[in-house]
Amino acid sequence: MLRTNNCGELNLSDVGNRVTLAGWVQKIRNQGFVIWIDLRDRYGITQIIFDEERTDKKMLEKAQNLGREFVIQVQGTVIERVSKNPKINTGSIEILAEDFQILNASKTPPFTIENETDGGEELRMQYRYLDIRRNPVRENLIFRSKVSLAIRNYLSAHNFIDVETPYLIKSTPEGARDFVVPSRINSGEFYALPQSPQTFKQLLMVGGLDQYFQIVKCFRDEDLRADRQPEFTQIDCEMTFVEQEDILNRFEGLLKHLLQEIKGITIDEIPRITYSEAIKKYGNDKPDIRFGMEFCELTERAKGKGFQVFDQKELIVGIAVPGAASFTRKQIDALIDWVKRPQIGASGLIWVKCNEDGSYKSSVDKFYSQSDLEDWATATQASAGDLILIMAGETNDTRSQLSALRMELAEQLGLRDPEVFAPLWVIDFPLLEWDEENNCFHAMHHPFTAPKPEQIELLATKPEAVNANAYDLVLNGNEIGGGSIRIHDKKTQEIMFDLLGFTKEEAQAQFGFLMEAFQYGAPPHGGIALGLDRLVALLGGQETIRDFIAFPKNNSGRDLMINAPATIDPDQLDELNLKLKPKK
Ligand code: AMO
Repeated sequence: MLRTNNCGELNLSDVGNRVTLAGWVQKIRNQGFVIWIDLRDRYGITQIIFDEERTDKKMLEKAQNLGREFVIQVQGTVIERVSKNPKINTGSIEILAEDFQILNASKTPPFTIENETDGGEELRMQYRYLDIRRNPVRENLIFRSKVSLAIRNYLSAHNFIDVETPYLIKSTPEGARDFVVPSRINSGEFYALPQSPQTFKQLLMVGGLDQYFQIVKCFRDEDLRADRQPEFTQIDCEMTFVEQEDILNRFEGLLKHLLQEIKGITIDEIPRITYSEAIKKYGNDKPDIRFGMEFCELTERAKGKGFQVFDQKELIVGIAVPGAASFTRKQIDALIDWVKRPQIGASGLIWVKCNEDGSYKSSVDKFYSQSDLEDWATATQASAGDLILIMAGETNDTRSQLSALRMELAEQLGLRDPEVFAPLWVIDFPLLEWDEENNCFHAMHHPFTAPKPEQIELLATKPEAVNANAYDLVLNGNEIGGGSIRIHDKKTQEIMFDLLGFTKEEAQAQFGFLMEAFQYGAPPHGGIALGLDRLVALLGGQETIRDFIAFPKNNSGRDLMINAPATIDPDQLDELNLKLKPKK
């Protein structure tokens, strides 16, 4: 070994020991006759001292030439420090250097490698290996490793086996575009990278493996956001001879295990809400339930009082914002402007202040009496001191606009505490959604999800009314997992493909292998996949998954470090029988 100890472990009990450390020069304080160096490795920082009286003169001179991020090996003796630093593990000691070697010099790094850095995001992505040397990034990666291990331990203890499935496959539709890979030896043909291992895990169940898991990369060519990367990691699971209840219980157990193990937090049973209830109460299917502000529909109460704006609207819906009656006119106007931005697209916002003296003041006082407003306050469960905010319009749009406002207010009021964990199961999703543009149904989850068994007959007559045997796991307003009980018979799968607009030939060409397998004793099965990146980020108190991925892509899907994607050699294109269209 090039070292006897790491840079994070020596303390007063080691005083007098001769040690060898190796690491990076984080900081140099040079006073001419004394030089202090902060030597850093993954485990911490140890102070090294060279001084005129106790260090060989040549050594002192050589140390003058060290620079930031040089990699060195130091031999010396552990001594007690005069001025101690209680903030770090090794803060009571330092190493009196006797000898050192430069293992590798370093150019001056493009940004400071400290907790607070002066490097912008793009620059840090370009030099990601330097960013990884910084504590916050390194700690995130160590945290991710810890979460992964806890997941493996839990699933292994419950009889899941880890099986790898291929990356060079055929399209598995999960609602995004595929990344494709041309095949050289099968000219003109392409593999698709898996959007998920969905069909393979089902085939493993047909293969009798009973319970499978895999912590696996998935690839989706879709618009990127803080919680989306083109390649991301799923904790992908499948179980045989189970019903929805079994899966919910097993994975509720997993989340509880992780919260306990990683955060030391015990949570109660995870509440469940149906999809339609979630939409009605929160305006979206991944509600943040760390705070209230549930929707209250006021359509019947608010219509017919001469306020034209409301009278013509399909839905009138409000929320009570706790303690916000004290908002100034300026604050309320800012909220109105906020909802009118094109990203939200609302036409306006009506407000009612519930004053401490029991009276009401609103932007629609002309049309509504105190008793009308009191009626709204009762309905929205607003108390004195609260502010009721109301939106009106087409049902779906208005719900999603109010949902955005609810989240914004929670943010402003500090109600989204990252150290509070409020998971939720959303169940009973519709099986299909109508796609106006393409005039066909889409699978809301994916085409392999089974309908509720009691509604199977409806598939032929009223498919839009059929619910899926599907569920999502939501944590603090983020979808961290989704799954379903699967179709396991050829006939239902064929009906499903037909509803999704596949011709028999197309279904056969794309998924014939699965329907074939269903004819050889496919057992009832179901599963779930959790997004590891999202789960880790949330457990780490953040929502940006990039910070928990060693080498992430930027928002344009680029890896700035290796500069990918990139053009390829014309010979390589020829070999693959590909021709690029000239750019317009
Ligand atoms: P689904 O498409 O819901 O289900 O994906 C499961 C979970 O993966 C995470 N996720 C993502 N994370 C980061 N970046 C992305 N681009 C991204 N896309 C999805 C989410 C999501 O909840 N085969 C089914 C699972 C099943 O039915 O068993 C599937 O992939 O947290």
